[in-house]
Amino acid sequence: MVEPKPLVAVVMGSDSDVETMRRCADQLATFGIACEMRVLSAHRTPQAAQEYAASAAQRGLKVIVAGAGMSAALAGAIAASTTLPVIGVPIPSGPLGGVDAAVSTLQMPPGVPVACMSIGPAGATNAALLAAEILALSDADLAQKLREFKQLQAQAVMQKDAALRGGK
Ligand code: RP5
Repeated sequence: MVEPKPLVAVVMGSDSDVETMRRCADQLATFGIACEMRVLSAHRTPQAAQEYAASAAQRGLKVIVAGAGMSAALAGAIAASTTLPVIGVPIPSGPLGGVDAAVSTLQMPPGVPVACMSIGPAGATNAALLAAEILALSDADLAQKLREFKQLQAQAVMQKDAALRGGK
């Protein structure tokens, strides 16, 4: 069987980020969205990161998710070299608990947008959902899957509410 071409890139600054960023890949997989995962560092392998970003669109990628911790420059560095939407995930890998990475990721100068998610696992999950929402703009089946996801999520909350009320 031919593997589907990845539409989303899930890149990260270090292999120490992979546990968090795998949540993004796993969430994408629930929607049947193929992704490719790479370790690329804005500080340690700047040229590789730049070349990856510059060639991403012509290789068929549609959205790039970039997770990094500490002085997190990866999402911004990627966004500098592509017009694809870039979603940043701040990783809580340093002594400041990810606030450092969040500020680095969200405080982009005008002209180089990065969509900054929440810190850590929630951000990785939301990065996948935002990437899916972007792809769903031109994919009606995917848009339907996202509606079903939201319905199931709401049902789960209502069941928890009912269980709590029933337990009174
Ligand atoms: C960042 O520095 C990486 O994204 C990682 O979150 C952090 C620490 O990297 P390692 O020292 O664990 O490789 O560039």
